[in-house]
Amino acid sequence: MGQIHWFLFIFLCLLGHGELAEGVSGLACNWGLQSTHPLPPDIVVRLLKGNGFNKVKLFEADPGALKALGKSGIQVMVGIPNDMLASLASGVGNAKAWVQQNVSNYISNHGTDIRSVAVGNEPFLRDYKDRFVSTIFPALQNIQAALIKAGLGKQVKATIPLNADVYQTDSGLPSGGYFRPELQNLMMNIIKFLQNNGGFLTINIYPFLSMQADPSFPKEYAFFNNTAKPLVDGSIAYTNVYDANFDTLISALEKSGFGHMPVVIGEVGWPTDGDPSANIDNAKRFNQALLDRIVQGQGSPRRRTPPDVYIFSLFDEDHKSTLPGNFERHWGIFKYDGGIKYPLDTGNGRTMVPAKGVKYLARQWCVMSPSAGVSDPNTLAQSITYACENGDCTSLGYGSSCGNLDAQSNASYAFNTYFQTMNQSKGACNFNNLAVITTVDPSKPPCRFEIMIDTRKQKKASPPPPTVYRSSAAKIDGVFAALIMGIMGLVYMLRSLI
Ligand SMILES: *[C@@H]1O[C@H](CO)[C@@H](O)[C@H](O)[C@H]1NC(C)=O
Ligand SMILES: *[C@@H]1O[C@H](CO)[C@@H](O)[C@H](O)[C@H]1NC(C)=O
Ligand SMILES: *[C@@H]1O[C@H](CO)[C@@H](O)[C@H](O)[C@H]1NC(C)=O
Ligand SMILES: *[C@@H]1O[C@H](CO)[C@@H](O)[C@H](O)[C@H]1NC(C)=O
Repeated sequence: MGQIHWFLFIFLCLLGHGELAEGVSGLACNWGLQSTHPLPPDIVVRLLKGNGFNKVKLFEADPGALKALGKSGIQVMVGIPNDMLASLASGVGNAKAWVQQNVSNYISNHGTDIRSVAVGNEPFLRDYKDRFVSTIFPALQNIQAALIKAGLGKQVKATIPLNADVYQTDSGLPSGGYFRPELQNLMMNIIKFLQNNGGFLTINIYPFLSMQADPSFPKEYAFFNNTAKPLVDGSIAYTNVYDANFDTLISALEKSGFGHMPVVIGEVGWPTDGDPSANIDNAKRFNQALLDRIVQGQGSPRRRTPPDVYIFSLFDEDHKSTLPGNFERHWGIFKYDGGIKYPLDTGNGRTMVPAKGVKYLARQWCVMSPSAGVSDPNTLAQSITYACENGDCTSLGYGSSCGNLDAQSNASYAFNTYFQTMNQSKGACNFNNLAVITTVDPSKPPCRFEIMIDTRKQKKASPPPPTVYRSSAAKIDGVFAALIMGIMGLVYMLRSLI
């Protein structure tokens, strides 16, 4: 008996040590590219590694990102935009060309660890009407066939990121979950197909959007550690909407005979600006508890094994469509430049580290000229509108970080965002002589007048990546040692029982 305990003790110590040494065993996130001035990919890859991310999801097969991810030790899910589905569905030849150029090429020539292909993105969103309903499944089948043809059938899995609106429950209880009736047959075919190919289902869950969509939604319930009244479903008390939503899917799967289908969370997060509920406090509260769950390996009441969770998103993107709302450009856990927005513990007390080596345009801003106070209000309004159409004014709205500016600063903010978006070009700070350039930071906390990233100066500016790769290999060795010790302990235990 003494020996058994001894072995188990070592086993646990080694596991614990691995965790402590590395901080986190692995986080996953979405890397979006819809910025007017994207961070250089090599800086992003170092940002990911420095913060313990070992999985990343891309929305398109961006060459810069895929090359920079080569030999990084980061596993990649690469996306296919919806507008490519029709062509990929029309024949396996197109899918083969896509896989050759956007998957095989990066695996063989750049050492990029591509593990999955996300075919389409939320194709069944009600807003799309039925635009992708007939092409999504054939596109998935053709991509899968092309992956097999390329000899990647085992290594790379095809999946479809789905919005959580593909399932519902009439009772409001997760146990009542079922797939939307008009999608039921198609969903069954897709899930069967994914299962036959050893794949997984990908689902995006947004407590923030659930809250936005329904004014009577109990806000506390959108968070993890909350004061909300639990939702009692048989023997389970749901304390937050994330678990309830996830388990609605699990119920729908169980009812359809796919209770063991692996599920990955493709997107989940909380924005920091552009809406009264989108702020630093709420985002920190939500994302910190989410990270805690990931680090602790916590599942949901109906499925104890935790899914992979891709946080949405890595940084803010100033070129995203604002159709869903102004918050859409502010989902980042980092700022647009990889800077820290708010501190997060990414596991065992490890704090976030910002992007390093980012180059900025000159330290100057465009503001409303102090002498332009008595100008024609129409000209001013038109100038602001023009600036905001081309720049990013999503922080100016009610309840946003710059929502309390006076009219003059408000105009300055609009002029500056335009000026920065236009690379601080001389002609971009005029507005009928209403605007002037200043070197005095006009920021009025919490409202920040940003300076844009200089995408020209970045080219040769990057030192070689740090050696995190090696230490993660060391960690694998540690886990191996732990496993071997564990197996030895087990063997010993079994022998002593016989
Ligand atoms: C991927 O490959 C196809 C070739 O089929 C090409 O046309 C496409 O633009 C490539 N890139 C992306 C980002 O999908
Ligand atoms: C949430 O609660 C759990 C358990 O009570 C705790 O371990 C965790 O630290 C809390 N997280 C936050 C962000 O307060
Ligand atoms: C500030 O500018 C925005 C964007 O044009 C506008 O919606 C808002 O009403 C303005 N606020 C003030 C105080 O002028
Ligand atoms: C800003 O500069 C970058 C790098 O030279 C360029 O790619 C981009 O098109 C420029 N943007 C504008 C609006 O001129």
